[in-house]
Amino acid sequence: MINVTNEMLIDVVSDALAGKRESLLMRLRVMAKKLKKESPELANKLESLLLHTSGAVAVERAQPLIPKAAPVDADSRQKLLVETYPVVIDVEPVWPSKTDVQLNRFVIEWEMKERLYKEGLHPSRSLLMGGPPGVGKTLAAKWLASKLDMPLLTLDLASVMSSYLGKTGNNIKAVLNYASSFPCVLLLDEFDAIAKKRDDATDVGELKRLVTVLLQAIDEWPNTSVLIAATNHSELLDPAAWRRFDRVIDFDYPTKDLIQKYLISKDIGDNLAGYISARLDKVSYAVIERAINQAKRNSIIENSPLSSSLIDELLEGESIEDVIRTMLAENVAQRKISRDLGIPRTQVSKFVKTEDEGNE
Ligand SMILES: Nc1ncnc2c1ncn2[C@@H]1O[C@H](COP(=O)(O)OP(=O)(O)OP(=O)(O)O)[C@@H](O)[C@H]1O
Ligand SMILES: [Mg+2]
Repeated sequence: MINVTNEMLIDVVSDALAGKRESLLMRLRVMAKKLKKESPELANKLESLLLHTSGAVAVERAQPLIPKAAPVDADSRQKLLVETYPVVIDVEPVWPSKTDVQLNRFVIEWEMKERLYKEGLHPSRSLLMGGPPGVGKTLAAKWLASKLDMPLLTLDLASVMSSYLGKTGNNIKAVLNYASSFPCVLLLDEFDAIAKKRDDATDVGELKRLVTVLLQAIDEWPNTSVLIAATNHSELLDPAAWRRFDRVIDFDYPTKDLIQKYLISKDIGDNLAGYISARLDKVSYAVIERAINQAKRNSIIENSPLSSSLIDELLEGESIEDVIRTMLAENVAQRKISRDLGIPRTQVSKFVKTEDEGNE
């Protein structure tokens, strides 16, 4: 499995040509990390180059202008937003083809915005992303910010909601004003926090004003920035809020095919990936990712094959023997089984022998 993708290479070249030094350095660091496994020597060379280059030659940069005065909470003086630039993604997102088309179309609209302006149109400015936890909403926001080469500003609405709604309103207004003052992607995470508040709000009037502020902000959003709202509960949203977004993208749990693709992208052999994905239902990428990381730790500590730890983590009540048995029944070659599961060939043939003896 090649870890450094063509897309990464293109990103690096285009950063280099555009003179985007910071972004280029970040991408090269990610690349060096990815190369570590398959070409350690190349990775080391790259790392040493990176080490010696910091602070050298001033390359002309087309850095976006990020204003210094990010909004803070009036009482605590804590920053309300998390700002990231450049946004670099070190995973290859696996989307269903419909989502892939929707996201790519969003980017193309921005790349061809001049054409749209000429026709009196503008690229999509606001995007509502709904779906269960851990299926890639935040990742999609990062991916868009990275493709559009804009800073990503994240506001967690659940954490900014204080019992004193007047203050919450002021904080949100400050964030919206700030984010619409320069080109950026603003991600309003947990967008339903406001809708949820409706049930227990003591001051209904104040809450209504807050919702109005938000709806107005979506209506008046400038052509220069992107507003993304993410929620686990789009069903809680007012139709008035829902219809204001230029685009709505629904995220869902990955299908078996996508899980298999995802596992393969994480260097899991294709037969094992197929075996595991066929047995998972309504599981998020976040859960699978955590299981892979745990399995890696277990396999080092217990000195066991990663495949066996992974089966333990993801498939309750199954063992590596079950997998070998199924693969043999599906006529997968012993050589392939041994490679996919990372176990010696002799272990597979020994297993076949014991099974045969058992059947006699
Ligand atoms: N489509 C995907 N392809 C590859 N990895 C993914 C994908 N979706 C999610 N992941 C991984 O799963 C983890 C959780 O994803 P993310 O934070 O985007 O979920 P989310 O939908 O925003 O969840 P929440 O609703 O809890 O905020 C991340 O580490 C991310 O890299
Ligand atoms: Mg998220």
